[in-house]
Amino acid sequence: MTDSFYTEIIEGLTKSPKTLPSKYFYDKRGSELFQTIMKLPEYYLTKSEYEILNNQSGEIFNDFSAKQKFDIIEFGAGDGSKTKLLLKEFLKQTNNFVYSPIDISKSALKGLEQTFREELPLLKINPINDDYFSALESMKNKDTTKLVMFMGSNIGNFKYNEEVDFLKLMRKNLSQGDCVLIGFDLKKDPRIILDAYNDKSGVTKEFNLNLLKRINSELGADIDISSFEHYPTYNPITGEAISYLISMKNQQIRIKDKRFEFKQSEPIFMEISKKYSTEDIEELALSTGFEIIKNYYDCKHYFADSLWRAK
Ligand SMILES: C[S@@+](CC[C@H](N)C(=O)[O-])C[C@H]1O[C@@H](n2cnc3c(N)ncnc32)[C@H](O)[C@@H]1O
Repeated sequence: MTDSFYTEIIEGLTKSPKTLPSKYFYDKRGSELFQTIMKLPEYYLTKSEYEILNNQSGEIFNDFSAKQKFDIIEFGAGDGSKTKLLLKEFLKQTNNFVYSPIDISKSALKGLEQTFREELPLLKINPINDDYFSALESMKNKDTTKLVMFMGSNIGNFKYNEEVDFLKLMRKNLSQGDCVLIGFDLKKDPRIILDAYNDKSGVTKEFNLNLLKRINSELGADIDISSFEHYPTYNPITGEAISYLISMKNQQIRIKDKRFEFKQSEPIFMEISKKYSTEDIEELALSTGFEIIKNYYDCKHYFADSLWRAK
């Protein structure tokens, strides 16, 4: 991990504009901070998806309509607190399935496994500590029906429409009739969206700065954390919420043998969280080889879990 961590951090800081890969947010502290973010009053995403899965998991089970044995594979499962609702409902109907949560964060995966073993003793669980892209490859040879889950708006974190390539690759590794359940954050009042990434208590700021701390502690860098400020934005036309860290002074940072110059006010692109309309979701499904079975919404229509079938 340290090797690819180092390589990708250096690669990102060499780009113009500078960028850092958001998948590295989730060390132990990062995963803890994300759990706190999920509970913030401004972070409506978790509450909305919780409501959907709490009320509609039975309907999702019926619409997925698996007849025999099947596999549930979840990409970027995190702490699984919402998925637990769906699995509980599925287990009322059958335990003829294996649940494989995939996550790059060892600590998140360990926490999820512990909770699920305690709270869902009937569940067959097979945790996989891996990156999305290598995990996609290992799905290919299984011959059981699959339900792939990609929840919590993880789909919105791909840059430059890479979600299209990711979903096409996923389709290639699935068989006709397999299903995917994807959580989409919907376009809405821009102020509600911006507040979700700009919480009053400053946890999202700390979450972003934690990646700089991680670079310091794991790569022996000398970044002055206090010289960077969190700057979240939202563009209601493109639906892109983007978080930056801004250097508050001219400075140089050192990571092992590499040095990087920052000008005062220079941004680092940290994370994109894209928002979708229902038309965007339809277009994405069609262009990647899927058909929509159903969209499940929360009562405010802030969020949609969309169930697709591979064509
Ligand atoms: C925003 S959290 C959402 C977690 C969960 N899906 C939810 O809805 O609560 C994203 C999760 O995806 C994981 N993740 C991010 N990028 C990843 C990647 N490239 N490969 C595997 N896991 C990744 C992170 O470690 C984190 O646990």
